[in-house]
Amino acid sequence: MTQLIQDLKWRYAVKKYDYSKKISEQDLLVIQEALQLAPSAFGFQALKYLIIENPEIRQKLLSKSSNQQQVVDASHLFVLCAFNEISENHIEDHITRTAKIRNVLATNLAGFKNHLQSTFSNWSVEKTKEWTAKQCYISLGMLMQTCAQLRIDATPMEGFDPNGYDEVLKLTDQNLHAVLVCPIGYRHDEDGYGQLAKVRKTIPELFEVI
Ligand SMILES: Cc1cc2nc3c(=O)[nH]c(=O)nc-3n(C[C@H](O)[C@H](O)[C@H](O)COP(=O)(O)O)c2cc1C
Repeated sequence: MTQLIQDLKWRYAVKKYDYSKKISEQDLLVIQEALQLAPSAFGFQALKYLIIENPEIRQKLLSKSSNQQQVVDASHLFVLCAFNEISENHIEDHITRTAKIRNVLATNLAGFKNHLQSTFSNWSVEKTKEWTAKQCYISLGMLMQTCAQLRIDATPMEGFDPNGYDEVLKLTDQNLHAVLVCPIGYRHDEDGYGQLAKVRKTIPELFEVI
């Protein structure tokens, strides 16, 4: 079996974390670098990752997470947040960053800039939030994969109250909203879910080559 498939079979959505085990700084940096490399539409990265260690904040988030204990017991709590609005300044930032990193004149990127401006100019907050939230799902996939390779457990979560998170974390003031939650850490020996066989459709059910 390839290493990749071994990693993916090793992982599962952990229900009970070992509170005493913490992720090393070094692994945390690898995770951050992997997420930094996540692709996004236009390379725009209209998102932000909160990594919450603070136990008091996590206690406040517990009741906003259907009391899923992983939110407080895991080593770290990732909250994947997306922009609410895309402003002219955000577009300008992206163009300036691209020009600097690629060592080209910003004026050479005028076509790209126009395209971004015409794309985003008429979008409502609802449409923008829907689009930016999709980018978070790509990052979630990469977070799961990276953690599995590092033998760090992770639990993807949609089972939380996004408005409650926005309130506790004061996200609206930062032009953000919570899209996904992902506690990461180390499984508890008593987490029976780790022993369960994976339920998946067969390859022929999932794929059709045409
Ligand atoms: C977008 C998304 C949201 C999920 N939300 C939750 C959640 O709120 N709580 C939870 O315990 N698991 C949650 N899961 C985990 C799934 O139930 C789990 O991935 C699925 O049953 C497959 O099992 P496995 O990941 O253990 O192989 C979520 C998974 C995804 C991808």
